[in-house]
Amino acid sequence: GDRQTYVIANWKMNKTLAETAEFFQEINSSNDVTVVVCPPAQLLYPAHLFIKQSGKPVHLGGQNVHWADKGAYTGETSTAMLKDVGCEYVIIGHSERRQYASEDDSLVNMKVKQSLMAGLTPIICIGETLEQKNSLQTEEVLASQLFGALNKIDSSHFIIAYEPIWAIGTGQSATAELAQQTHAYIRSVLKQMFGEKAESISILYGGSANQSNAAEYSKMPDIEGVLVGGASLKAKSFDGMIKVFA
Ligand code: G3H
Repeated sequence: GDRQTYVIANWKMNKTLAETAEFFQEINSSNDVTVVVCPPAQLLYPAHLFIKQSGKPVHLGGQNVHWADKGAYTGETSTAMLKDVGCEYVIIGHSERRQYASEDDSLVNMKVKQSLMAGLTPIICIGETLEQKNSLQTEEVLASQLFGALNKIDSSHFIIAYEPIWAIGTGQSATAELAQQTHAYIRSVLKQMFGEKAESISILYGGSANQSNAAEYSKMPDIEGVLVGGASLKAKSFDGMIKVFA
């Protein structure tokens, strides 16, 4: 189809400057898939320089951003700052931020608006807990996260990452069949909101994705790539996943 495919690394709170340099030396990127690396904020600018130096087709993204243009927000990073150091993408509403930094759908919505205005592509994370899954609330939860995150937004220039919380960092990845079924549901909700434009929105899977299970996801009609935590930290395993989607 005409949907763009992505392999995206979310390093979370990992890596030193030296390890970052090493990663971009070792990585073999590809032009056939959009590769995005999201290092911690402090490593963004050196990462940008390492990427430039390497000449490899790798794009840069932030892991979080503030909703305001600028101002008295100690410790925060603005969209302009992300762009200034070479970012084109930003992860918004990751479940770890929802859990540990009290981000809710309305805050996610403000961040998505600000990012779109600034010309950054938001990677919007949604996903249900194990408890919600077991009580058959997955669809309800995802629909309300989507309506919340995308409230009063006209642009469809964003990426959705479906990350079931029970699959993140647990080794308990969703089967490709379950992920496909859920992605198809997510697309049906996006269709309600965006009409035919929803056909071109990329929906990524995240949650214990790795070199071995990536191939199964890549075969599915509504899975346009992966958002990778643990398996993105080693250049070798991240490369393996790039190869699968390229
Ligand atoms: O953003 C990435 C996800 O949280 C997945 O993390 O691949 O370590 O399970 P994981």
